Amino acid sequence: MAEGPNRTNCNFAWLRSKKVRGPQTVRVIATMVVTLALLALSKYVFHADLRLDVLFVTSMWVLAFVLNRSKPEKLVAQNALPQSGKLLEQSQKMEAIGRLAGGVAHDFNNLLAVIIGYSDLLLESLGSSDLNRPKVVRIKQAADSAASLTRQLLTFSRQQVIQPVVLDINQTVSSTEKMLRRLIKENIEFTVVLDRNLDRVKTDPGHIEQIVLNLVVNARDAMPNGGKLRIQTGNVLLEKDSAQAGAVVPSGRFVLLEVTDTGTGMDQQTQTHIFEPFFTTKAVGEGTGLGLATVYAIVKQSNGHIEVQSTLGQGSSFKVYLPAAVQAAADHESGKGTAKAAFSGETVLVVEDARPLLYS
Ligand SMILES: Nc1ncnc2c1ncn2[C@@H]1O[C@H](COP(=O)(O)OP(=O)(O)OP(=O)(O)O)[C@@H](O)[C@H]1O
Ligand SMILES: [Mg+2]
Repeated sequence: MAEGPNRTNCNFAWLRSKKVRGPQTVRVIATMVVTLALLALSKYVFHADLRLDVLFVTSMWVLAFVLNRSKPEKLVAQNALPQSGKLLEQSQKMEAIGRLAGGVAHDFNNLLAVIIGYSDLLLESLGSSDLNRPKVVRIKQAADSAASLTRQLLTFSRQQVIQPVVLDINQTVSSTEKMLRRLIKENIEFTVVLDRNLDRVKTDPGHIEQIVLNLVVNARDAMPNGGKLRIQTGNVLLEKDSAQAGAVVPSGRFVLLEVTDTGTGMDQQTQTHIFEPFFTTKAVGEGTGLGLATVYAIVKQSNGHIEVQSTLGQGSSFKVYLPAAVQAAADHESGKGTAKAAFSGETVLVVEDARPLLYS
């Protein structure tokens, strides 16, 4: 603070001018300047210079403390420091796995496109009563599932072209609600609570569907004996920067998408690994461990953040915060960006370096 040191100097000047009339009456024995970081109750850090003078004033010892308080700084920066190494390590690991997974997924996707393409051609040529038809349908279904897995890998590795638009998350949730209800067993009480005045967000609609789907399926899996599952949306104003899991979350307006369940919950150890790709506690064949890694990647890509609260035996809550978009009207709603077929009967030039894909 600008006035702090000046005032301090004045105080000392005043003190000295009063006492320093005779050097024998006032004797400065020691002066030290200590820099302290004082943690205040309000979660602020004060960087402070503490000056301690020991004076001998007319046969009395006097201790003089002077505190120069600097501008308060946010605690988060301090708190984030010890964790920054860990975070860097984690993000480098995610980056490396992402690149590897993305590379494999891209080639794999091309191979799947060939399988799906030829399956379609075969299905067209097979009559509805052909005995081989169900077999080809099976091949195509398996290839479709594999393609959706590789899509997830591509999202996670950020190699997918994203098409962000300004949209209303409520609409995305509502349009997937029917499908979600089909995924959930009857012993699960499913509620959706949507804030009617929800701010818009700028993101890819497919990404919101992926977030909702992954969180809901996880919640369902955590409640094999039934329970309650709730999806809720709302506006949140974060007035101050805050620390979440060692990262600094900037202040501002956010749209909150929360998925809560009353399932098994997670212990602390599990919670520290859930966003790592391929981390799963599910049996072989039941989970790939890519769901939350994908959700995490999407949220980060959208400059948002995700919070988890979970208690073993009681349930979990996943809160996804996405920055509110400034633009009020949704491109999505107005139909902007929706490609309409403008041509017919034209010749299309296909350029593809993977020969099998080109012919399929
Ligand atoms: N709602 C939840 N309740 C309890 N545990 C959860 C919940 N959500 C996630 N988990 C834990 O986090 C792990 C990782 O979840 P993630 O979605 O990434 O992978 P998965 O569900 O195991 O497999 P995948 O989603 O790829 O099919 C899960 O295996 C589970 O242990
Ligand atoms: Mg999952």
